[in-house]
Amino acid sequence: MANVIVVGAQFGDEGKAKVTDLLAKNADVVVRYQGGANAGHTVVVDGETYKFHLIPSGIVYSGKTCILGPGMVIDPKSFLQELQALMDRGLDDSNLKVSNTAHVTMPYHLALDAAEEDSRGDNKIGTTKRGIGPTYADKCARSGIRMEDLLDKEVLKQKLDWLVPRKNVVLEKLYNLPPMDPEAILDEYYEYGQRIKKYVCDTSELIFHSVQNRKNILFEGAQGTLLDLDHGSYPYVTSSSPTAGGACIGAGVGPTIIDRVIGVSKAFMTRVGEGPFPTEQTGEISEQLRQTGKPWAEVGVTTGRPRRCGWFDAVLGRYAVRINGLDCLAITKLDVLDEFDKIQVAIAYKGRQSGKMYRDLPSIGSSFQHMEPIYETFPGWNQSTSECRSFKELPINAQRYLDFLAGELDVPIAIVSVGPKRDQTVIIEDPIHGPKRVLSKVATN
Ligand code: IMP
Repeated sequence: MANVIVVGAQFGDEGKAKVTDLLAKNADVVVRYQGGANAGHTVVVDGETYKFHLIPSGIVYSGKTCILGPGMVIDPKSFLQELQALMDRGLDDSNLKVSNTAHVTMPYHLALDAAEEDSRGDNKIGTTKRGIGPTYADKCARSGIRMEDLLDKEVLKQKLDWLVPRKNVVLEKLYNLPPMDPEAILDEYYEYGQRIKKYVCDTSELIFHSVQNRKNILFEGAQGTLLDLDHGSYPYVTSSSPTAGGACIGAGVGPTIIDRVIGVSKAFMTRVGEGPFPTEQTGEISEQLRQTGKPWAEVGVTTGRPRRCGWFDAVLGRYAVRINGLDCLAITKLDVLDEFDKIQVAIAYKGRQSGKMYRDLPSIGSSFQHMEPIYETFPGWNQSTSECRSFKELPINAQRYLDFLAGELDVPIAIVSVGPKRDQTVIIEDPIHGPKRVLSKVATN
C-alpha cells in the first residue's frame, strides 16, 4: 500500500496527467483535491487523446474509484458535459464520486471572473475565466453553494434568494452587466443536482475507508506550486492550494497517511497567463520550445492560449522541492530539447541593483522584478530521445543534463518522459518505493 501525492513543481502544465496516468495503474483510488475547470490534463492511451478538466484522469482505467474532492470547485454544467463526452467514448462512470462539500461554480462566478479580469486592465491576472477566483472567494466568505445544496431545492432557493440580488448589485452597478434571475438559476442548477446526485457522497470518509483497507490512493494535483494561493507568485496565482499540503486539506485526509510526494517538472518551463517568469525566452528559442504546429505544442488545454516558454529555473525548482517536501521528481518533455545546440538552466538570481547573488529565492513576493537569472549553459544532444526507454539509452549530454538538475535541486529524478505516449517513458527509479530525498543537514549559528 502507498498513498502518493503528485504535484506540479512549476507554473502548471508540467505534464502531471501523464505521470498520474502511469502511477494510476497501481492505484485503487484517484483523487483530485483542488481547482476546477481551469485545469486541462491530457492523457494519450492507445493512440487516443483524452483531455480532462474536472474529472480525475484515473477514469481511463476501469475499476478505479475516481473522486472529485471537497477542495475542488465544480461547475456542474462543465462536469456533466465532460462526463458525457467521456462516456460517449466508452469510459465508465460507475466508480466516480463527487464530494458533497465541494463548492459549486455558479453562473455569477463565471460572469464576475470575466468582468473582474477585464476591469483590471494592464494588471490583469490572465485567469482562465472559469469562475475559479469568485467561487473560492464565496467559499471563504461563507457564502458559497456546496454540492449538497444542489440536491435540496428549499436550501438552494434560500441561498440563491439571498445571494443573487447581492451579486446583481455588483454585476449591474459596478460592471454594467445584466442582472441574473434567481428563479432561472434555481431551476437549472437543481436540475444539474438531480443528474449529479448519484455520484455525490462524503468522499473523505470513502478515502478513509480505503486507507483502512490498505488501498493505494493517488492524489492528483492540478495547476502548480508557483500558482499556489499562499506560496505562488501572488497575485498571479490561482485561488486554491495545488501544493502537497493542499492535498490533505482538499481531500480531507490527515498528513500521516501520505507516503510519498512526487513533483512533476518539464525539462524547461512554461507559464500561461500573466505574472513573473524570470527565465522566459522570446524569439527563436521560445518558438522552438513551444513546438508550434505539433500535437503537443505548448498551448493551454483549457483556453487555447499559447504558453510562454523559457529555460528550466533551478531556483524555483529548489523552492518547489522545499514547499512540497518532494521525495522525487518526474521530468517531462525531455524530447522537446532534442534539437537544441545549447540548453540553459538558471542556477541563481542576481539582484539587479545590489548585484547580490541568491541561490534561493529571497522572497516569493515582490522580489522577482528585481532579480536577473544567472545561467549555466549545457551542450545539447542533437539526437532524438523519443525511442529511449532507459537512462543508459539517453544521449550522454541528456544524462548529464538530468544529473545536473537532480544535483541542483537535491532530489532524485525517478521518471523521465520522452513523448506523449505511455511507453515513451524512462523509469530511472521506482517513484513509489525507490530512493527518496534525504534532507541534508546545514550548519546553524
Ligand atoms: P484561474 O485559476 O482561472 O483563476 O487563473 C489564475 C492563473 O492561473 C492564470 O495565470 C491562469 O493562466 C493560471 N492557471 C489556472 N489553471 C491553470 C492550469 O491548469 N495550467 C496552467 N495555468 C493555469
